[in-house]
Parts: sequence; structure tokens; C-alpha cells
Amino acid sequence: MKRRDFIGATVGAGLGVWAGGARAPMMNLLRAMPRPQAADSRIEVLLNEPVGRIAPEIYGHFAEHLGGVIYDGIWVGENSKVPNIGGIRKALVDAMKRIKPGVVRWPGGCFADSYNWRDGIGSKAQRPRRTNFWRDAGEWPKDAPDGPWKYDTNQFGTDDFLRFCKLTGAQPYLAANLRSLSANDFYQWVEYCNSPAGTTTLADTRAATGDREPANVRFWGVGNESWGCGGNFTPEEYAAEYRRFTAWLPGYGVQLAFVGSGPNGGDVDWTRRFFAKLAERRAIGSMWGWAVHHYSWNVTGGRTTDWRQGKGDAVNYPDDEWYELLSEADRVEQLITDHWTVMGESDRQHHVKLVVDEWGAWYKPGTEVNNTHLLGQQATIRDAVLAGQTLDTFHRHADKVGMANIAQLVNCLQSLFLAHEDKFVLTPTFHVFEMYASHQGATAVRTAVSTPRPSYTRNGKPATLRGLAGSASLKERVLVLTVTNPDLKQAHETEIAIRGANVKSVRATTLTAPDVHAHNSFENPSVIEPKAATVRQTAAGIVHTFAPASVTRLDIDLA
Ligand code: AHR
Repeated sequence: MKRRDFIGATVGAGLGVWAGGARAPMMNLLRAMPRPQAADSRIEVLLNEPVGRIAPEIYGHFAEHLGGVIYDGIWVGENSKVPNIGGIRKALVDAMKRIKPGVVRWPGGCFADSYNWRDGIGSKAQRPRRTNFWRDAGEWPKDAPDGPWKYDTNQFGTDDFLRFCKLTGAQPYLAANLRSLSANDFYQWVEYCNSPAGTTTLADTRAATGDREPANVRFWGVGNESWGCGGNFTPEEYAAEYRRFTAWLPGYGVQLAFVGSGPNGGDVDWTRRFFAKLAERRAIGSMWGWAVHHYSWNVTGGRTTDWRQGKGDAVNYPDDEWYELLSEADRVEQLITDHWTVMGESDRQHHVKLVVDEWGAWYKPGTEVNNTHLLGQQATIRDAVLAGQTLDTFHRHADKVGMANIAQLVNCLQSLFLAHEDKFVLTPTFHVFEMYASHQGATAVRTAVSTPRPSYTRNGKPATLRGLAGSASLKERVLVLTVTNPDLKQAHETEIAIRGANVKSVRATTLTAPDVHAHNSFENPSVIEPKAATVRQTAAGIVHTFAPASVTRLDIDLA
């Protein structure tokens, strides 16, 4: 089965060593791991080569009405025994605040193009039940019961989502239904969210059950995957729809930022044809961002491209699947540069930013924590390395990537959280988002890495992939360098040179795992957690040994 069919069908201060409180365990870990004889890698950080500001929106999330994301994940209901804030899971809100979420995208995904926002407003008792887009998905666990995940009760609607954003400090990013609602419905959704209290009937409707003050929603997705579940359009057809939906929308004092729905995977032809069509009508200036999606799923090393057969297990994977998945993830860099080049053919000033509004690992079903969590999956240190690697790639292209949204927030695909009833746990991906949060709003600077490539066996033949990789950003006199090591066995002692400033002090934090198949669970929530690590400051810079299968952050105070 092809992806298109799937979507269409179903839908140290000073010289020496610094270590924090957890020094002893990390020292043991460093002693136990295979070490090179001497430094085999070098990283240069070039402070005088800024790339661009790292948009906080790169630290974005995605929450769709799909399986356990909304019902059970975010929404537990006002009368639930699970601690909640007006029906929203409190533990989730508290954890979200720690990672400073830039933005949350809602309500889909494919679901968005079947959703009528009017179903989710007004008195909760009056809201209709509707068949969810994902009801007939082939991936449901066999014994999955009926419930709001199949027949949406609409208890979580626009007001609830906007409240969730307010509670967590995230900006809302709403995806409009372009396939099955009209441009007028879109016009009125913007009005419902943004028109000042007392001015229109919809503003009064909002004030009656939601917030009296307008939400000032800036980011609006104009459809989703319009080549597939979002309408099966050609790029030319979609360009016409895009223009119709976005022409003459009042912003109510907000500069609306429209995000166009991009291609299937790396299909640059879709991008080229869409941009050419918009350029014909001088409409490129109306678009803020262009969305691409990048899922890492095929672990077969090319044996198949079948959307179902190509996937592996989230937890029990052999070494070659570890490397295949991380190679897949690494392709996001090419996706960014290819699309950027093609967009530049029509958008010469690069007015439009790239928005990677769905990204992450996608495994086969079987590790979901509850049978109502369609596309739910467990997470290991492999997911953490994938997340760190991807965020570092976005930083290296901070001049191009305006927003990114990991898919999805809770109980689905590469989640930061797993939750069921009163149980809640942070995944290794959450820890990466927390470790990396200080990059937000900083200026990305260029890094140059020289390191051996890990090798593995791909269908009986030798193969390699990129080794140590990372990114650096500067905010005032604090430099943050984050690095992932995808090598399963080899630690890399690395000399790090900071060009353009002297180092005053350095601290290291590392996320790694006792076993690469280990994971945090409701019963054992702290198996994978970041720990302070040893790092050496030398006359020439910094020396650090990056553990195998790890994500590391160095906080470097510059003189
Ligand atoms: O994230 C799950 C689905 O993947 C989304 O609904 C869709 O946009 C993509 O195909």
C-alpha cells in the first residue's frame, strides 16, 4: 500500500572538568563505553557566520482528533477524577510549560478537511456527535471500542483549544477545511476567533461560551495534504482554491499568516507547479508559509516501499533498523534545500517560509499504551536522537524554516507524552524538547563537523550514514551547542573550537539510555532522563566525549 492510498482510503568552569549532581552515574557510563584512543572528531563553531534567528515556532506541536490525542490525551472532561483545568489534563499543561511550546496545530491533519468548526462551539450539551475521519482506519487495534475517538462528541472545540494554547503559552495554528467546507466558512471561523467583542454576532457567540477577548489567531493552514485526503487536487486546482479561500479576509488587526498545503513527500514538481500558478496571479505575497511533511518510517533498506510493510517496531528493532530510520530522518535536510530552491524560482525574494508541519517517526501498530490510541506508539532513545537530529537540521536552516510541528503531541506517532486515564509519562522526545528549548529565539551560527561515519549492514551490503551532527546558537554571551551521536557502539571524543570568542565556562547535559530498547513507562517513568555529564575545557577550546546513541547539550558561557 502506498502512502497516498492510505491517506486517501482511510483516511566546568575554568580549566578542568565540570559535573553536576549526577556525576557518578555518568562517570560510570563513560567508563563502560567503548572509547577512542584520542579525539577522532572536531566541531568548529563559527560565531561570525550567523544563519538566522531560530523561530520559536520551530518548537511547534500538532494535535489532531485522531485516536487518543484529544480524548484521553488532552481532554479528560470537567467532571473527570483526573486532575484537570476546565477539562484539560493538568499534568500535560504543566509539562508543556517546561518546553515553551511555540505553537500548536489543530484540529488536523486529514481530520481538518472533514471538520466543521461550528460543531465544536456553544453549549457542550448541544454539540452534535459526528463520525471521525479516522473511524475506518486499518490500524485500529482489533478490540478498539467505540467512543469519541470514532464518533466525535465535539466536547473539545475551538474555545477549548484556544484555552489550551493560553494555558500552555503556545500560539494557535488552525487548519481550515478546504475540501468539504466553503471559503465563507473559513471567513467566519476567522471572524469567530478574531473579531472584537461586541462587534459581530459571532464575536458575541464566542463571548457567551468562550473568551470575551478575541484570540488574535495569526497562523491559518489553508487545507492539509491537498494532494490526498485534503481533496485529491492537482497543484493547479489547489492554487485556485488557495486563492479563493485567502482573498479579502479581514484580519481584525492581526496580520494573518496563511500556510499553503505542500506536496506529498519530496515531490518538488507539486511545489514548482503551485508556485508558478500563484505567480501568474501575483498571489505569492499572500502566503506566509509552505507546508511540507516528513515522516521517517521505512526501515527495510529499500526492500519495499509499501506504506504498511515498510514499517518497523517502535521498541524491538535490530541495529540496521536503528540506522535506516535515522537515515530516513536525515533526509529532511534535502527536503528543505530542494523545496527552497524550487520555491525561489517563482519567489525570488524568498518571501515564503518553509513550514514542516508534520514530522517524526511512524512505526507499525502494537506498542500503543491503550487500544483507543490509533497510531499510538512507544518511544526509545532512537526517537530522541531522531528529534535532536531534526531540530538541529531546522536550526542549520533557520533562514528557511519558519515553523515546524512534531507529529503528534500525545498518544500518537512521535509523541512527547503518553497518557491514559490518570496515568501520564514523559517520553525521551519530551526531554529533547526541554534540552533544546534554550535555542528558541537565539541566532543560529554555522558549525563545521568532521567525524567518522558509522557503518552498518544494509540488506547484506555495507552502508554508512551521517555521524555526529548538531547545531549552535547564540543569545547574548551564551552559546548553546547541541549534538546527536547516532552511532550505536562508538563514543566520539571531540575537540570543539569556538571561533570568534573565548570560553569562560561550559556545562554538559546528555540524554542516553541503559539499553537502546529501553523506554519510559507509566510504571517506570524515569528510565531515560537527561543527566549532567563531564566536559573538559582546554587551552584550545572544549573536549567532550559524545556517548553512543545520545543527545547532548553544551551550555557555553563566552568571555
Ligand atoms: O499525522 C497523521 C496523518 O499523517 C495526518 O492526519 C496527515 O496529514 C498525515 O498524512
